[in-house]
Amino acid sequence: MKKKLLAFLFAGLSGIALSLSAVSCGRSSEFAEVVIPRPATIEKCAGTFRIPTPLTVAFDTPETVADALGAYLRTTSLPAAETAEDAALRFVLTSEEGVPASEEGYELSVLPEGAVVRARGEAGLFYGLQTLLQLRSHYGDKIPAQRIVDAPRFGYRGMHLDESRHFFGKEFVKKQLRMMASLKLNRLHWHLTDGGGWRIEIDRYPELTEIAAWRAVEPWQEWLDAGRRPFGRREDPNAYGGFYTKEEIREVVAYADSLHITVIPEIEMPGHSEEVLAVYPELSCAGKPYVYDDLCIGNDKTFEFLENVLTEVMELFPSEYIHIGGDEATKKGWATCPKCRARMQREGLKDLDELQSYAVHRVEEFLNARGRKLLGWDEILQGGLAPNAAVMSWRGMSGGRKAAASGHPVVMTPGSFCYLDKYQGNPSTEPKALEGSLPLAKVYMCEPAPEDMEGRENVLGVQANLWTEYVPTAEHAEYMLYPRMFALAEVAWSAPERKDYDDFHRRALLRIETARAEGYNTFDQVASERAERPEALKQVKHLALGCPVSCGAEWYESYAADGAASLTDGWFGPWNYGYRWLGFLNRDFEATIDLGAVKAIREVKADFLQWHSALIGLPKSVEIAVSEDGEHFTVLGEELNDLPFDDPKLQCRAFGWEGTAQARYVRCRAAFHGNAGGWIFIDEIVVN
Ligand code: ACM
Repeated sequence: MKKKLLAFLFAGLSGIALSLSAVSCGRSSEFAEVVIPRPATIEKCAGTFRIPTPLTVAFDTPETVADALGAYLRTTSLPAAETAEDAALRFVLTSEEGVPASEEGYELSVLPEGAVVRARGEAGLFYGLQTLLQLRSHYGDKIPAQRIVDAPRFGYRGMHLDESRHFFGKEFVKKQLRMMASLKLNRLHWHLTDGGGWRIEIDRYPELTEIAAWRAVEPWQEWLDAGRRPFGRREDPNAYGGFYTKEEIREVVAYADSLHITVIPEIEMPGHSEEVLAVYPELSCAGKPYVYDDLCIGNDKTFEFLENVLTEVMELFPSEYIHIGGDEATKKGWATCPKCRARMQREGLKDLDELQSYAVHRVEEFLNARGRKLLGWDEILQGGLAPNAAVMSWRGMSGGRKAAASGHPVVMTPGSFCYLDKYQGNPSTEPKALEGSLPLAKVYMCEPAPEDMEGRENVLGVQANLWTEYVPTAEHAEYMLYPRMFALAEVAWSAPERKDYDDFHRRALLRIETARAEGYNTFDQVASERAERPEALKQVKHLALGCPVSCGAEWYESYAADGAASLTDGWFGPWNYGYRWLGFLNRDFEATIDLGAVKAIREVKADFLQWHSALIGLPKSVEIAVSEDGEHFTVLGEELNDLPFDDPKLQCRAFGWEGTAQARYVRCRAAFHGNAGGWIFIDEIVVN
């Protein structure tokens, strides 16, 4: 304890306890909450806490805790001044009744006579302070009195940052760590190595940072188009890259630690290793660079390299888990590589999946023997999961479900909810992103541990990932992170029954404002369109609404929406083809709507999707025909598409006819664009 404060504190605390029982606190529907992630319980109390200047602070905690919190307080905008008397803000480390059982939980009482944070653990005191800071950002120095009791749903609340494809530097990372702390996120998964560049100094292998950290050009596409080569040197004209020195890594790790954030380094293996093979081609099955992406598993030198690297990595990162990647190995060189084949024979490995699994097992043994645990992307399940490994499930939830059911720890980060490299707004006006749509609302919908999940207690938590192929600058990285990380934070922290998107959306708008004032470059369309295709938000009334439709072409089973009825349900699809869109593979589309009686019509518009990377293209042409008897049709018009199939922007376009006609039956035919293996996706046929 900080002895000098004790006597005062006991007096002070009983004072607060008295006032607590004297003030009336209770739930109030009038009370608009502001904190993200949403706390477990908030009660409104009578009166207002006026933050004095200076704000006197006292600690009833061990000295180390007081010192750490005091140091942190001095970095915030609170005008904090430590005192032994009449402190307006107190931190109390206690396991008294009423304090949440979780080390990260806290109770924050903000009363007219002062504010008190009580918690069982240092992290809990820190999070109580974060809540107070958010209240102050919103209310200024007059905070409505309230009592918050709060604790996290998950222990792992993560953000991933890819600095291989683009490199941002330590000040950027520290700035994001500050935001993470404010959102009560506690794991930074730092993707430091990949084909785009090696970003961490390793003494034993200087070429990794002298060469493999510097690619010839910055623009990702240009570099890809050049065959992912070459790497050069920092001095070369156009050289792009950078790396963290050991000193900088230590600084970031210590800084994160002061914010109760653990940094988990990722060292990619055996795939995504082009940059390593560029400088150590003997580790490739080809024996030369730029042939394969994967490390040769038959070669003992590969393991010598990995173990030496991991040894230096473990010296820098005290994290329980070391992430070893494990995703997307092409396995292309392994099948014909004499060393890999010999390894398979010696070890009795029946296929390439088992060869991969051999590598992961071997690295796991190395880590475990040094007191660390292995974490890897869900491909590490292939060929048999290493005995103590934790799985990060990115290809949907199924890998995570499988691992959890067999008792392995799991971090959920399913691509359709957690990949922040996708579009968050209108793809036709947003900066280039990974094809696909992940608006704020969709992140918020993520459920990392569904009730029907076997072994759901093995879900450590959830994480959102920022891959940076199309994120060239620090400003753009923030733009992709926020506010979607706000949603992830609430998914990770708040109990499902406390989640409410409308309320979150309101709080997110407030938090965006303060984030911008703090100098973060956030996505700014949340207020106007909720970052979703506006047409998809409201049912459209039209003449054919609810009318029966017969579809003259078979849709693909996985893209069935609600069947043919989807075409007249009044709902446009979102910027995301997995929902409300009816998909047709390699074929023309035809549908006929029965309006029920002959009616005057003036417009027929069929709405289609273009999403090149998913091979979804607009139809070549759309023909509208009508009939009064359902047998004899008159063609009213045909509209041709002029957008090339390879136009990369995700977009929706309506094709059809306008004029005057009488009809009971309306037929729409859309001609396949002709690209084999390609799709047509349609969501609605609007008739007026
Ligand atoms: C991944 O997105 N390849 C893990």
